[in-house]
Amino acid sequence: MIPRLAIIVLAISAAYAIDFEKSLGHIKPKTSDYVQTDAVIALIQRALPHHYEKFVVFINQSIAVQGKDVFSLLKLRDGNILILGTSGVAAASGFNYYLKYYLKNHIAWQTSYVDVSEDLPNINITIPFNDKFRYYQNVCTAGYSFTWWTWRDWEKHIDWIAMNSFNLVLAFNGQEAIWRDVFMALGMKSEEIDDHFTGPAFLPWNRMGNVRGWGGPLRVSWHERTVRLQEKILSRMRELGIIPVLPAFAGQVPAAFKRLFPNTTLHALPRWNNFNDTYCCPYLLDPTDSLFKKVGNMIMTETIRRFGTDHVYNCDTFNEMPPISSDVDYLRAIGSSIYSAMTDVDPQAIWLMQGWLFHYDSDFWTPDAAEALLTSVPLGKMIILDLQSEQHPQYGRFDSYFGQPFIWCMLHNFGGTLSMFGSSDIINQRVFEARLMKGGTMIGTGLTPEGINQNYAIYDLMTEMSWRQEPIEDLTHWFSEYALRMYGSDDGNLQKAWHVLQKTVYNFKGLQKQRGKFTYNKSPSTRLKTWTWYSHCELLEAWDYFLEGVSTTRAYNHDVVDLTRQVLQNFADEYYDRLIAGFKAKNITQFRDSANVFLEVFDDVEKILRTDENFLLGSWINAAKACALNDEDRKLYEFNARNQITLWGPNGEIKDYANKQWSGMVSHFFQPRWTAFIRVMNESLTKGIEFKESKVAYQVFKTIEEPFSYAQNVFPDQPFGDAVAIAKEIHLKWRKRGHCRMERSRSYESEVREELLKQKDEARIILVL
Ligand SMILES: *[C@@H]1O[C@H](CO)[C@@H](O)[C@H](O)[C@H]1NC(C)=O
Ligand SMILES: *[C@@H]1O[C@H](CO)[C@@H](O)[C@H](O)[C@H]1NC(C)=O
Ligand SMILES: *[C@@H]1O[C@H](CO)[C@@H](O)[C@H](O)[C@H]1NC(C)=O
Ligand SMILES: *[C@@H]1O[C@H](CO)[C@@H](O)[C@H](O)[C@H]1NC(C)=O
Ligand SMILES: *[C@@H]1O[C@H](CO)[C@@H](O)[C@H](O)[C@H]1NC(C)=O
Ligand SMILES: *[C@@H]1O[C@H](CO)[C@@H](O)[C@H](O)[C@H]1NC(C)=O
Repeated sequence: MIPRLAIIVLAISAAYAIDFEKSLGHIKPKTSDYVQTDAVIALIQRALPHHYEKFVVFINQSIAVQGKDVFSLLKLRDGNILILGTSGVAAASGFNYYLKYYLKNHIAWQTSYVDVSEDLPNINITIPFNDKFRYYQNVCTAGYSFTWWTWRDWEKHIDWIAMNSFNLVLAFNGQEAIWRDVFMALGMKSEEIDDHFTGPAFLPWNRMGNVRGWGGPLRVSWHERTVRLQEKILSRMRELGIIPVLPAFAGQVPAAFKRLFPNTTLHALPRWNNFNDTYCCPYLLDPTDSLFKKVGNMIMTETIRRFGTDHVYNCDTFNEMPPISSDVDYLRAIGSSIYSAMTDVDPQAIWLMQGWLFHYDSDFWTPDAAEALLTSVPLGKMIILDLQSEQHPQYGRFDSYFGQPFIWCMLHNFGGTLSMFGSSDIINQRVFEARLMKGGTMIGTGLTPEGINQNYAIYDLMTEMSWRQEPIEDLTHWFSEYALRMYGSDDGNLQKAWHVLQKTVYNFKGLQKQRGKFTYNKSPSTRLKTWTWYSHCELLEAWDYFLEGVSTTRAYNHDVVDLTRQVLQNFADEYYDRLIAGFKAKNITQFRDSANVFLEVFDDVEKILRTDENFLLGSWINAAKACALNDEDRKLYEFNARNQITLWGPNGEIKDYANKQWSGMVSHFFQPRWTAFIRVMNESLTKGIEFKESKVAYQVFKTIEEPFSYAQNVFPDQPFGDAVAIAKEIHLKWRKRGHCRMERSRSYESEVREELLKQKDEARIILVL
């Protein structure tokens, strides 16, 4: 039976055109079929501890055609399910396919719904992947999501990675340990190294040469911790057939290089986001300088010695900082120097580059400039991540990267901010168009979010673009199925809610920047602009349906919280506009009434967020503290954790960029600063005195925003309260304000009231006891 399946696989996989196998054929798992089989069996056991024995895994890597993965699923006569895959990742994806589409279960980032019956559904299917690669991670994800993760977090996450088919994944932990050793070998003093490395929460931007020293120094214990993690992560990834991407030297060096190499030309890197001289502007070694080669070789050699290699290296020399000259000969020279610094050490090296520069500095990177850089490396030896293809694709502008292979990536969010949004129509269409582009060089799909743990549906949809042969004809049906497997319920209300979400928050098509900032979570100002690409009233319908639905899964609870949060912050925007209008018109009644309602939002958001373990500031801070071995480090890590999600810098250099709508953030950061600001507005309106906005903003900064970074008050990391009951209470209150016509029946209202009375009774009983 197995060889027969193999033939089907061969027949299906043969039908592809672009062939980069000559240059990329060696980029494949190095572990044996047996190792990968065992790793997948262990993964299934973690996912389904009671049913894993019903899955038979068979991996044969030599069946893959043109390096593309395939999986087959077949129910055997004995009732077991055979999973045949061309790699551990392919087999794990096959398992996930069965879980999603046959068992109607869903294992997501933070929630999972698994309910498996004794008799497993029939299946006989073969699914080939469209491309060689499924790529995962942005260099920033390490900062915004993974900073404080333990091996337990990583283990769960790597299972998710494999089940969702990602086979090319960044593995960035522990690199500072190597840099430190190399810097010391070059003669740097330990204080100079301390001035250079940032604290853990800011490392991605230190690696890119954007900042130095902020939140530092980096402790020896941190190096030890991250090296240990990296070793575990790498071996698990390799066991599952995932190809880890390691960092290569990109040219950014500490300021101390000026002392060490006074005769070398060092380019001062431009100031990034107004960080002052203490924290900004490391140097860039000119890639054509011999020292670049020397340092690059040392770092590559040491990286490979410690971590091994799978031959793919990430290197971003010009992220948000263009080269000093746009002369095409110069650009060609630097491209080939960077590449040869890699191949000197690893002749099989492939350079993986984030294509963000081409969008961010699009004036500098004209097609001529981009062509010079891109074609300075032999064709097929470089992989470009088209980093935000859903909004700013560059492959069209650059003629499919002048022949270099690229990966179509959905970036989706910045700073890991929380806000419901996504572009379902776009990803369901443009991935396929790009793949079929004449002379196109697309070799994969990817996810490149700055942060994870949000908008699960949109990431799930994008992930499926790796194996779907054509666009999903009926996206509405897709969302219904999604609701079914997340909530373990075919309740029509939940499906209707998702149909509204599909049409509203998940149908973004604009070019505006999505930054997860609404009035209530921004720094107070009278000049904020509010906008959404959908109607608030329509989204309220989703809220109505969602709360009328019934489900007992964790995912339902999570989404009740998420949707309630979203609706409330839209209300905040509406009342903000009214209070500002009232203020400007000196209409005290309007100002005060709207301000009161605006401030009510904070209480309600805090209350609802508090009910779910995935929306707690306490979890983030405690995870940070848990990485420390002594009090001093605990203080430093807590500061890192707090500062990154608020001021992001000593003076709010990128304030609120990575803000998190978590319980604790609302009560201790968003709310106090608005309350203080509105108090002064109120006073000035009442007393007819001038409102000095910048003075008030400065006071808010000094008394609330800045102290938050240094405070050490403890926040709960356990949820409190019943999400659904509290959401219904909030829903009833706000819906009665009558913003939009409420279509729900009267009986619903009385039901909620009864529910509330019941709760109050219970509360009273508890009080009496
Ligand atoms: C794997 O597939 C190849 C090619 O079809 C075949 O020659 C080989 O015997 C298979 N390996 C196993 C263990 O079945
Ligand atoms: C599975 O499907 C294939 C192709 O549709 C068919 O040839 C094969 O007989 C089926 N196998 C079983 C066991 O039903
Ligand atoms: C730098 O150049 C000067 C003058 O050529 C020379 O005296 C000095 O030794 C050089 N320094 C180093 C560190 O190479
Ligand atoms: C940069 O800012 C920090 C904190 O605000 C301050 O301590 C430091 O002296 C400043 N450095 C320079 C060079 O101005
Ligand atoms: C003040 O605002 C309220 C509510 O919007 C409105 O009814 C009232 O007419 C306004 N008063 C003046 C003087 O414009
Ligand atoms: C505004 O000031 C008045 C008078 O002090 C007070 O009664 C009212 O509660 C304040 N309203 C707001 C929104 O601060």
